[in-house]
Amino acid sequence: MSAVALSALLAAAAASVVNAQTQQFPATPLANKHFAYPSGIPYQADTDDLLRGTQQGYNLCNSTTEGQSSLCQTAFVNDASDWCVWAPPNGPSTIGDTEGEEVAWCTKPGRGTRLIPAGAITGVQFVRSPSYLQVIAFMDQTKLNLEASDFGGELDPHGADLRGNPLGGLMYSNQLPQSGTGDNSTFTQVIEWHNFIGSNHTCMKVCDPKDPNAADYCQHVFDRIGVQYTCPNAAQDGVFEMCDSDNQEYPGVYTSDGQTLTYTQPAESLGPITSMPYTAVVPASSNCVTFQSADLFSALPTISGAAAATPTASGSNSGSVAAASKGSTSNVASRSGSSGSASPTGGSTSQTGGAHTLRTSAFATIAGVVFAVAFFA
Ligand SMILES: *[C@@H]1O[C@H](CO)[C@@H](O)[C@H](O)[C@H]1NC(C)=O
Ligand SMILES: *[C@@H]1O[C@H](CO)[C@@H](O)[C@H](O)[C@H]1NC(C)=O
Ligand SMILES: *[C@@H]1O[C@H](CO)[C@@H](O)[C@H](O)[C@H]1NC(C)=O
Repeated sequence: MSAVALSALLAAAAASVVNAQTQQFPATPLANKHFAYPSGIPYQADTDDLLRGTQQGYNLCNSTTEGQSSLCQTAFVNDASDWCVWAPPNGPSTIGDTEGEEVAWCTKPGRGTRLIPAGAITGVQFVRSPSYLQVIAFMDQTKLNLEASDFGGELDPHGADLRGNPLGGLMYSNQLPQSGTGDNSTFTQVIEWHNFIGSNHTCMKVCDPKDPNAADYCQHVFDRIGVQYTCPNAAQDGVFEMCDSDNQEYPGVYTSDGQTLTYTQPAESLGPITSMPYTAVVPASSNCVTFQSADLFSALPTISGAAAATPTASGSNSGSVAAASKGSTSNVASRSGSSGSASPTGGSTSQTGGAHTLRTSAFATIAGVVFAVAFFA
């Protein structure tokens, strides 16, 4: 966030202490808004104009919005060859500076979104557990408008003001473990999900709304402890695989001396998180099927030029996209190694003392101030 925007935000907050809450919070939190896909999708899920402004993109996405300038904010997670993450519309940027405006970057064409550029994904583990689907991917994040050095952050449908990050972002799946119908044209809205992206990898987890513990598995309060805690996994860079998996523990929940404990993430004002009282257990996986990159991602575009096209409000297609020639990269998967080899995905808390492993954004901090002002005024 720029200094100007920041001071504008603070000024707005200060000038409206009495009304801070009504100006910040929508009448209906994003997580309570339900839309059928594709028939019930509105142009924008968030029609408010509050402290964080308006939704930057749109949810109604189709062939006219598809391409590398799409501002589509409707995302999908189905299988190893068909998933999206949230990343900035313009770059190079950071998640912290753009969390409210991220757009969907996907692996499968046909839904009006951007596509993750060919070659950006260097390893994938997609798991189906009884309660959620989870994709871990290693990537060249600079191809998704992120600065190479960005440690990233968390996107989820809540946010300090309950409008979500991105504002109005919607999520769907046709392969949920409990809600799935086996009919690939039937999509269920995912109410609880989280996406950690940065440090050259990502975790996208979508929790089945039929599962009573969906909000626990997709917990959204652990934004600084890293993917090995929020999405414990045995994914390996260079390997492309899809597995069945047991459920993980809820993020933040662990067992010590036979006692079940819940970790509390300290406030960011207390400084970097330099140690963790536990190591998250990687759930057992089975039935891993290994792919080559080209098996999964043959339709991804090769982007010419250094940066992606500049988005436009109209979401017109960029002309600089050429279809990747099928099988052009042979990213041969070495082995599924699904059991035992729990190589972490990075983002560990030891990195620079964990200061910014998956940091909260400037907005979250400011929102905290606004909250405090509102509550104590
Ligand atoms: C396609 O999406 C755009 C952007 O949301 C929207 O304005 C337009 O009405 C859509 N077209 C159709 C046929 O739904
Ligand atoms: C549905 O998608 C899955 C992959 O997610 C595929 O294995 C299956 O064949 C598809 N089913 C139909 C009926 O197309
Ligand atoms: C991501 O990878 C690049 C290239 O290896 C590296 O320079 C950069 O430091 C990495 N970023 C993070 C946040 O680890």
